[in-house]
Amino acid sequence: MNEFANKIAVITGAASGIGRSLALRAAAEGMGVVVADIEAAPLAAVEEELRELGSPTLAVVTDVSQAAQVETLAQVTVERFGRVDLLVNNAGVGAGSTTWESSVEDWAWVLGINLWGVIHGLRSFVPRMLAQGSEAHIVNTASMAGLVSFHPSAPYHVSKHAVVALTEQLRISLKLQGALIGASVLCPGTVRTRILESERNRPGRTGGSEETNAARDTLLGRGSNPTLAAMMAQVLAAEIAPEQVAEQTFAGIRAGELYILTHPELAQPVRDRAATLLQVAPAR
Ligand code: NAI
Repeated sequence: MNEFANKIAVITGAASGIGRSLALRAAAEGMGVVVADIEAAPLAAVEEELRELGSPTLAVVTDVSQAAQVETLAQVTVERFGRVDLLVNNAGVGAGSTTWESSVEDWAWVLGINLWGVIHGLRSFVPRMLAQGSEAHIVNTASMAGLVSFHPSAPYHVSKHAVVALTEQLRISLKLQGALIGASVLCPGTVRTRILESERNRPGRTGGSEETNAARDTLLGRGSNPTLAAMMAQVLAAEIAPEQVAEQTFAGIRAGELYILTHPELAQPVRDRAATLLQVAPAR
């Protein structure tokens, strides 16, 4: 997809961080933008920003972990704008720690949003986008944590690996059907957003669980494990602005890239993983 002007974008998790920057970027491209998020007040503020840019816009408070709410999002989008040309399943949260210490609630909350949110998005929007029969594109936000494991946040990594697999599945199915819809998975490294304050949106919670706080401390380089702290210091030092990610995402869509990576300096673990697999793959 190369032309964005006068087309319609739907972006989840659009009240903050990467989603907000993508929404502003879509408006700058001349798109109408539907923004969805669980947080009403910051969502309304982004809607206002989009209006000021002259973009036809609609804000829909949506919990992406709830299939019915995502279906409503698709319905009201089509009612208002008649179509969807770009879908970005971006809403996401981080919580939990190791595979065995993360609570059942940690697993359910993170997978409910990061994985099921994307599944609900695809189930509600893809049939409508296919029926349009015109060129369109879908971006799912995963993470570098969807390609390699580097810090102890098992639910987050598992959810993001699943989003990479979902996008690969989506892309191959669309291709086999000869659809005009492209698919990309966005895999950012560290981005300056509110992701480390994800618990602000956690139902029935005022703060993080002890495990989550420990994981966040590790992420911020405050953990007691010096190896992890040093590694995370390097990862955090590579932090970039969400506007840069929005720029890279639109370039990736234009180029039809399946994987959109944002941090060249963090790509070595991806190369190492591929090299390990190639090394152990039985040779002919
Ligand atoms: P953020 O916290 O600034 O923005 C996330 C948005 O998602 C917030 O506005 C939040 O209210 C919304 N949200 C949370 N739960 C929701 C739900 N149930 N339904 C609808 N919206 C919900 O964080 P950021 O970083 O902008 O996150 C966007 C995506 O980028 C996430 O999928 C995250 O995993 C991913 N990501 C972030 C990285 C980073 O370093 N910030 C790195 C790699 C990926």
